Amino acid sequence: MNSTASLQLISSRAELHTALNQWRVLGHRIAFVPTMGNLHAGHLQLVEQALQHADRVVISIFVNPLQFGAGEDFESYPRTLAADQDKLNSILQGQEAVLFLPQVAEMYPNGMENSTRVEVPQLSDILCGASRKGHFIGVATVVMKLFNLVRPDIALFGAKDFQQVQVLKRMVQDLFLPLQIISVPTMRETDGLAMSSRNGYLTAEERGTAPYLYQVLKDMKQQLLAGERNFSALENHAAQGLAANSFIPDYISIRNAETLQPAQLGDNELVILAAAKLGKPRLIDNLQVSLS
Ligand code: PAJ
Repeated sequence: MNSTASLQLISSRAELHTALNQWRVLGHRIAFVPTMGNLHAGHLQLVEQALQHADRVVISIFVNPLQFGAGEDFESYPRTLAADQDKLNSILQGQEAVLFLPQVAEMYPNGMENSTRVEVPQLSDILCGASRKGHFIGVATVVMKLFNLVRPDIALFGAKDFQQVQVLKRMVQDLFLPLQIISVPTMRETDGLAMSSRNGYLTAEERGTAPYLYQVLKDMKQQLLAGERNFSALENHAAQGLAANSFIPDYISIRNAETLQPAQLGDNELVILAAAKLGKPRLIDNLQVSLS
């Protein structure tokens, strides 16, 4: 429990509008951190950075049904509001902030199926978008709606979801949105596993295996830095290693960090992206490699 609670909980669009207008007339610079809750140190790091970049922070917790596919974990996604609130209060240390907690009907008043959607072509259809059809339409749509409600000066996202950041940066660019997106490095457990709300789905045994995913990325990076340029050989070897360690790889791919297209000889800014199922959860991770 926290005696310095400074977090204002708001669940309606109208109330959010009023609260943020009060900040705006005072000239406050507003940072926004959208989340789906079940907050861990990775999320909190985004809020900490937000506090450094702006005068006031808005955090949202909304498990967005539009970005979940049929058979995915929308219903069972961990909802841990009381603990999330405590974590936020403890890092805010008395600084004023808003926690926006809309219900589904507040975000999709005309029904989810019939409301306007935002699609960022090409970037949305590859990698995670290839196996999670419509996922990035769901992400771009809800983030656009949240941006319109919050009207932040800056918004912070984790590099853990590298493709998500690229999709949203493109949306901001294409639609001339007057805000800046900041990408924050991936926060990891001490054994290297990227923190994720879905890590809680791992059994104890799978949790022991899970850091291997990052190990594979680091090995590939090392080989690229040592001069290896046979990208497909590296990818195939990595996928075999994952499969031999109980993962079901979805993709493990060396890409151009800007376009997310398969890396070509001569590309200097690369990212290795991976997604693999380990038991129930599908884990994702990535590692950037600069050859320049
Ligand atoms: P969620 O998975 O809750 O993540 C919220 C934000 O935290 C995202 O920007 C994500 O990249 C970041 N994040 C998660 N794990 C991280 C880690 N280990 N290190 C650094 N940042 C991390 O991503 C979403 O929610 C949703 O798609 C959302 C953008 C809120 C739209 O619904």
